[in-house]
Amino acid sequence: MEVPIHSYDVVIVGSGLAGCAAAREIKKAGKKVVVLTKLHPLRSHSGAAQGGVNAALSPEDDVELHMFDTVKGSDYLADQDAVELMCSKAPETIRWIEHMGAAFSRNEDGTIAQRPFGGQSKPRACFAKDRTGLTLLQTIYEQAHREGVEFLDEWYVADILYKDGKAYGVAAFNLRNMEPAIFNAKAVMFATGGYARAFKINSNAHANTGDGLSIFARHGLPLEDMEFVQFHPSGLAGSGILISEAARGEGGKLYNSEGERFMEKYAPEKMELAPRDVVARAIMNEIREGRGVGPDKMAVYLDLTHLGEAKIMERLPELRDLALTFLGQDMVKEPIMITVTAHYSMGGIPVDINGHVKKSPTELTEGLYAAGECACVSVHGANRLGANSLLEALFFGRHVGENIVKDLEKGISCHEAHPEEAKNMLSEIEFIMTNNGDESTAKLRQELQDTMFENCGVFRTEESLQKQKEILKNLRERFKNIRIDDKSKTFNTDLQEAIELGHMLDYAAFIVEGAIARKESRGAHYREDYPNRDDKNFLKHTFAYMDKEGNIKLEYGEVVLGKFEPQERKY
Ligand code: FUM
Repeated sequence: MEVPIHSYDVVIVGSGLAGCAAAREIKKAGKKVVVLTKLHPLRSHSGAAQGGVNAALSPEDDVELHMFDTVKGSDYLADQDAVELMCSKAPETIRWIEHMGAAFSRNEDGTIAQRPFGGQSKPRACFAKDRTGLTLLQTIYEQAHREGVEFLDEWYVADILYKDGKAYGVAAFNLRNMEPAIFNAKAVMFATGGYARAFKINSNAHANTGDGLSIFARHGLPLEDMEFVQFHPSGLAGSGILISEAARGEGGKLYNSEGERFMEKYAPEKMELAPRDVVARAIMNEIREGRGVGPDKMAVYLDLTHLGEAKIMERLPELRDLALTFLGQDMVKEPIMITVTAHYSMGGIPVDINGHVKKSPTELTEGLYAAGECACVSVHGANRLGANSLLEALFFGRHVGENIVKDLEKGISCHEAHPEEAKNMLSEIEFIMTNNGDESTAKLRQELQDTMFENCGVFRTEESLQKQKEILKNLRERFKNIRIDDKSKTFNTDLQEAIELGHMLDYAAFIVEGAIARKESRGAHYREDYPNRDDKNFLKHTFAYMDKEGNIKLEYGEVVLGKFEPQERKY
């Protein structure tokens, strides 16, 4: 098969906030850049973030407090140099996107409105009603377009070109007709988002299948801190669709089946506005102890009725609509049913503070970059604070874009790509298209999601994790026996979903292995058999590598500490 080779200075994979922000900076500096995305850019998952984007803007707030909240929220695993950089640049980042046209909600005096979010000492989340991510994504996409960035929508990137520690392009195919191509570039940046689709109840788009992580791992590159998966306290009961933390920020209260405002027991000071790991565990505990609500008793109530219709329609119109559409419950008139939902990936592709991908805790690759949720820089450590992810994606997207330009100007050498370097991708496609087994993608994926939620969810034990490790081994074996029904070349979603399932099986193994080895509880990783944080043995980042048979090997990297000494977290 003919494989054309296209040449660029930079190829970016993923078109959410981080990808678009980087592309704009790179194009503005006169470089030849293309963005490849398996979606349309405006369907990227950044657009699903509802509640806000943090910055210490108001006179009562300051950057140091933002840094402290972030580090404490991370259960002291965040790298403090990266936290300092992000928080200190947050106000400028908000002005930058505002001046490009982002329509933030306003106070009476015209200043940008800010609402409280979990684990924050001050109201710090700038917002656009409850459609903040979408507003930011529309703005940055429009501005990237205005600069003339080339977007190739509905292209699936299936491999990187990577040799001797150096990346020089990607192999991809066009989802419309399955035509393959190689994109040869001096710099390759991944901004492919998160991976919560591996869990049964999750708030993520169908596209969030962690492709970038698995693609890297298959080249022997490490993934960092994969055991830290955030469960958001409020997804709609049943589906897990996000009901923004803004609902609690605006005054929403949580009740169990006995009418108790149960957060009094778990976080008497911060109540519903404790960080997400604390609130999620509290909800699951109420459910496990039999005080859940709903037909299967797997939810709790979120009550917003006291806010009144006018405020709900002004601040939370999208949330009202979602609860009405998917649950038939009107939050203006009654409490709605919510439950915890897998939401965000703190771990990912290890990068230094300028977005260079690491090939070990202390060594960098060349020409390879990552930013946004797929990257682990690590500003969130073991638990992310709400409204820090839009900030991370926007700030680091721009920052990494600027650094790519600097590196290009210093000179990045580029290997010449050859058509046969599409071999990995083409054999993967060939295998899935022609394999004649008796396993279906949907069935294997369902088993993966059910068991990951059950055995590697909010609460974990040695027994549940070892069980999940065996389940994953078995699913991997059964994947070899997969068969798809659609053999066509036009928008073959059967093929795409099978490739994605292969990625999900890869990175799920990293989550489980990291969780088995981390014999402590920290942030979102809660081991019932090791309920305390253990700084002596585990104040360190996990780096995990996969071999060709799918076995995972672990090593550890240092946490960058700073002015905030690890303390007990109380809320
Ligand atoms: O709750 C939310 O609106 C989600 C925001 C976030 O994850 O930062």
